[in-house]
Amino acid sequence: MRDSFWGFVDLSDKILALLDSTATAILVVDEKLEITYANMATQSLLEQSDKQLLGHSLTQFVSHSSFTEERLQHAISHNEGFSDSEVLFAFFDGRHILGDVSVTRFEYDDSPALLVEIKAIDQQKRISQESQQWAQQQAARELIRGLAHEIKNPLGGVRGAAQLLEKQLSNPLLKEFTQVIIEQSDRLTNLVDRLLGPNSLPHFRWSNIHQVLEKIRMLVLFDDIQDVAIQRDYDPSIPDMLIDQDMLQQAVLNIVRNSVQALEKLDYPGEISLKTRIKRQLTIHGVKHPLVVQVKIADNGPGIPIELKDTLFYPMVTGKANGTGLGLSIAQTLVDHHKGKIDVESWPGHTEFKIYLPIEKKESVK
Ligand SMILES: Nc1ncnc2c1ncn2[C@@H]1O[C@H](COP(=O)(O)OP(=O)(O)OP(=O)(O)O)[C@@H](O)[C@H]1O
Ligand SMILES: [Mg+2]
Repeated sequence: MRDSFWGFVDLSDKILALLDSTATAILVVDEKLEITYANMATQSLLEQSDKQLLGHSLTQFVSHSSFTEERLQHAISHNEGFSDSEVLFAFFDGRHILGDVSVTRFEYDDSPALLVEIKAIDQQKRISQESQQWAQQQAARELIRGLAHEIKNPLGGVRGAAQLLEKQLSNPLLKEFTQVIIEQSDRLTNLVDRLLGPNSLPHFRWSNIHQVLEKIRMLVLFDDIQDVAIQRDYDPSIPDMLIDQDMLQQAVLNIVRNSVQALEKLDYPGEISLKTRIKRQLTIHGVKHPLVVQVKIADNGPGIPIELKDTLFYPMVTGKANGTGLGLSIAQTLVDHHKGKIDVESWPGHTEFKIYLPIEKKESVK
């Protein structure tokens, strides 16, 4: 019998060993929501020893999650278990994971208790979800592009006809009408061009990713309307990469601009951080790359509205009154040209976008 810790739950050694060998984090909380048992997987998930966990509330170790104390309390008092998929757990050290959670209420010694199971979503599942989402985003972008093309062609005709008509008109009052047609056609053409996205082919050159980031940092710093601090944490060992600097600048700018806009209305100091790291053996859209650079752009703003999360990269998805919702969709197209991907995690007080770009070896590209 392992008696020291789990006074509340007495389990035989065999059962404890079994629970410790499962990959699912399993814990028991009592009616005060204090942890009375935590298996090994829980300890490694929370990076805390059993002694640190015992007698404390689970939420004490989590800086943000939709898995709140209120929900646990509700499960206890209403005798109602629940399960949730893809729950985000953000920890105080900046780590975060997604997990499928199941909570079961049971009685122990006439007191209610909860058995909580957290199954971290593994890499493989994440990759397959990612590629499914990516395929959907591609389809949405193609649909919008097709539509934009269809609008663009007749629009040129409408504008041309209005110009011809204007030449025939002698009454200046009537010319005002043709001007309205021309102005509005130009406005629509502008929008349609943005919907169609960048139409030039990328020009790849060997250059350093930090040049791209520094340009954007300067742009934001010189924009003195904003009072935003930008932190840098670059890995100087990142080699030159075959990139189109203009395209990546645009992609990073679209993400940074969103951060700046999100920080505008804060009543605490806004901060953006730019961080680069090398990652090894990463799969991007089904292709495994030995070396990948990760560019992390994080801000301490209010977070991405929950209702936008699933469709964030779709064109025309916006949470702003005057937004066109194209910034992220364009950023993704530009990163796609580099065979990369963009990931996002966000909760109140923290939003981070990670751009992953494969690093090709100079010798292998001739
Ligand atoms: N860092 C962030 N913090 C909070 N919300 C964000 C952040 N980045 C993006 N968002 C949300 O995602 C939405 C979509 O962003 P996106 O850049 O695609 O479009 P937009 O900024 O609304 O318009 P556009 O970029 O075309 O001017 C934004 O409207 C905003 O609600
Ligand atoms: Mg934007």
